[in-house]
Amino acid sequence: HPVRLADYRPPEFLIERVDLTFELDEQVTTVHALLEFSRNPAATRGDGSLTLDGEQLELIELKLAGQTLTPAEYQLEAEALRIHRVPDRFQLETQVRIHPNRNTALEGLYQSGPMLCTQCEAEGFRKITFFLDRPDVLSRFRTTLIADQDRFPVLLANGNLVSETRLPAGRHQVIWDDPFPKPCYLFALIGGDLSVVEDQFRTCSGRDIGLRIFVEPHNLDRCGHAMQALKKAMRWDEERFGREYDLDLYMIVAVSHFNMGAMENKGLNVFNDKFVLASPDTATDEDFQGIESVIAHEYFHNWTGNRITCRDWFQLSLKEGFTVYRDQEFSAEVGSRDVQRIADARFLRNHQFPEDAGPMAHPVRPDSYIEINNFYTPTVYNKGAELVRMQACLLGPELFRRATDRYFERHDGQAVTTDDFVRCIEEVSGRDLAQFRRWYAQAGTPYLDIEADHDATRHLYRLRIRQWTPPTPGQPVKEPLHLPFALGLLDDQGRECPVRLEGDVQDQPAGTRVLELRELETEICVLGLRTRPVPSMLRGFSAPVKLRYAFTNADLIHLMRYDRDGFCRWDAAQRLQERLLLRLTQDPTTLIPDDVVAAFRDALRDPATDPALIAELLTFPSESYLADQLDVVDVDGIHRAHRQLASHLGTHLNDDLMAAYAHNQDPAPTEVTPRAIGRRRLKNRALALLMAVDGAKVFNLCQTQFETADNMTDTLAALRLLVDHGGAAGDAPLQRFYERWSQVPLVIDKWFSVQASSCREGTVERVRGLMAHPDFSLRNPNRVRSLIGALCHANSVQFHAADGSGYRLLSDVVLELDPLNPQIAARLLKPILSWRRYDAGRQAQMRRELARVLETGELSADVYEVASKALDTV
Ligand code: ARG
Ligand code: ZN
Repeated sequence: HPVRLADYRPPEFLIERVDLTFELDEQVTTVHALLEFSRNPAATRGDGSLTLDGEQLELIELKLAGQTLTPAEYQLEAEALRIHRVPDRFQLETQVRIHPNRNTALEGLYQSGPMLCTQCEAEGFRKITFFLDRPDVLSRFRTTLIADQDRFPVLLANGNLVSETRLPAGRHQVIWDDPFPKPCYLFALIGGDLSVVEDQFRTCSGRDIGLRIFVEPHNLDRCGHAMQALKKAMRWDEERFGREYDLDLYMIVAVSHFNMGAMENKGLNVFNDKFVLASPDTATDEDFQGIESVIAHEYFHNWTGNRITCRDWFQLSLKEGFTVYRDQEFSAEVGSRDVQRIADARFLRNHQFPEDAGPMAHPVRPDSYIEINNFYTPTVYNKGAELVRMQACLLGPELFRRATDRYFERHDGQAVTTDDFVRCIEEVSGRDLAQFRRWYAQAGTPYLDIEADHDATRHLYRLRIRQWTPPTPGQPVKEPLHLPFALGLLDDQGRECPVRLEGDVQDQPAGTRVLELRELETEICVLGLRTRPVPSMLRGFSAPVKLRYAFTNADLIHLMRYDRDGFCRWDAAQRLQERLLLRLTQDPTTLIPDDVVAAFRDALRDPATDPALIAELLTFPSESYLADQLDVVDVDGIHRAHRQLASHLGTHLNDDLMAAYAHNQDPAPTEVTPRAIGRRRLKNRALALLMAVDGAKVFNLCQTQFETADNMTDTLAALRLLVDHGGAAGDAPLQRFYERWSQVPLVIDKWFSVQASSCREGTVERVRGLMAHPDFSLRNPNRVRSLIGALCHANSVQFHAADGSGYRLLSDVVLELDPLNPQIAARLLKPILSWRRYDAGRQAQMRRELARVLETGELSADVYEVASKALDTV
């Protein structure tokens, strides 16, 4: 049954205080809860009963105001506990038993290797104790942890440490108290034999905060990067948003079984260890960057999420969209703004646009869901971040900062809505954002269709912009949106022109001008342009839309060469490549124009351009992105086109690529500065293009890189290429890699994923074989993602093998995984949601597998929602 935003009602009861006592044990943990209830003055009175959420709890004791309730006084259901009569204020005492070692869903209290840990967002707390498990019930928590001293010497929970006491029989007790009222989804506890890295941070007001990262002892030497990232993020949030940390302690725990990236529990973040642990020999540059941004993301949640939280789960983007915006800005400022923005845009195009075009399309603020865990999506996170970014762009930095200041001040300690956020922006800026609000409610990616003409006698340049949004499930009719359109104009020398409009009173400087679109059709008339300019549109990707304009190759080459806006330079290169690749897909005999090749040569030779940006310019749109541009996807044609263009550039730019490879051989191979990372990216992109051409010299280069590299980025880049090359060329290196790293699980994940994402023939069969490997396990989400995820999400050509074997493998895994871990099972289904876009044969195969999944009796809500929406049966 779907839950609907329109049905939201404030809670009838509040829980002011929560006093929890855990007797921790892997097999049987007992949870004792003392809850102080009071009627919510803001809610309407019900029938005098109280209903608590609770799942998979074995009730042992239930007392109201100190009196044990008789079975006639309450009713216990599979997912709820109903107490028939309650007063306006009362204390409830419960005791339940739970089984962490049987918890394979990794939601609630579960065992990960030797430790016990929790994941409560969104609705996991109800698997720990009976409660009002909803984000608008904020309580003060006190947590007492009791456990065996030897097995669980470290016992952590939210807030400040109150006491540690030895108990008889080798046990001990630790008490934590969190002074900040919070919803139960931010509750966390940890028990284990952990080692700790400690550091300190002095806040802007002079308070000293203890920073602690807890890991299993053998990982102690791989926490340095995470700690540095945390300190950077803390300083940045003070400077950029005026946000100071509030507790005396900030703790992070790395666990190896985790459904998502990490969790912002108050004062006690729990992380997927992939986003904590790194050393140059075991982690790639991408891993290092991922750690920095996820550490920052979770830290930023302390204000955007914890101090100010969501009223209900439809408001998830209130915290996630804003926090992603904040972590993107952080990464832009500690690294390169252009490169970060390109990564944001690429992610949106590869993941959010397809979601918006498929059966699971939903607004940034969804209006219904069956399973909330299915809505932790690129739409809620990344499109949500774009909505914040557009508002920041409309206001400009000073006003936007005043608006966020007002938001923090007004709503501190509250559970609020995305509307409350927009209202702060409106009030501070004095603007009316009524039309802008549609972005939160309307699903689908808008198109901007643009035409231009130039009047050489009147020196007028006219842009006609038509906006429209295709229908999405449940939303057949779309309304026009309000969006910032950042425009620049380049003259034939590549110089910026002023964007002068009719009615301007002031002189316009040359450069970007942010125009605002609101209508279905807008005409922009720029004055004073003798010659026809080349338009540089949506600079900085000023709105999350698809822009269509009949650029000539010459326009795109011009933008690639001269645009100051990194995003538009990259976008021009993408458009050139996309155009060529789609033509090659249709017709492999298409000629690749020399001027396009020359443009890429110039980019390679340009000493003024950041190597990281050059690498971006040389990176083709992904095969799945190209597939999205076709009415009927031609899986093999796209793959062949990719190879063809790579080998053409590899041949015709051979010398320049060789030079780029040589010049960017890193003098400091274990450094992870943005500069060093950019150089390695360029070097490895050059190597990939060179390897697309058969030749012993490059092959040896690649092999040497694999054998001698002392950082994981270079090792893995070479290994991927050797494996893709096929046969024995890859088998021996794979074997060596496995032997070298068999004791480091996060590196073994890479070993699985290199094989699963390889385009060589027979990959699906190989993945089936690897599922039987002793190191493979369906119980570890990172492992599942590294093998099954890599095949299904990152390997179009093999996953969509014409015989349907990829689809069959996916549905087999989903059916086996669903009873163990529904969240991960549902996520795996994503790549077949767009089945309608394929040829008849593949459509039939994908539908058959989806139907097979749906036919199974005992599906989770997670998988049921995704599969039924995909087949349009709900
Ligand atoms: N709030 C976490 C983050 O974005 C994500 C946790 C979501 N977990 C889940 N099971 N849905 O930082
Ligand atoms: Zn988040």
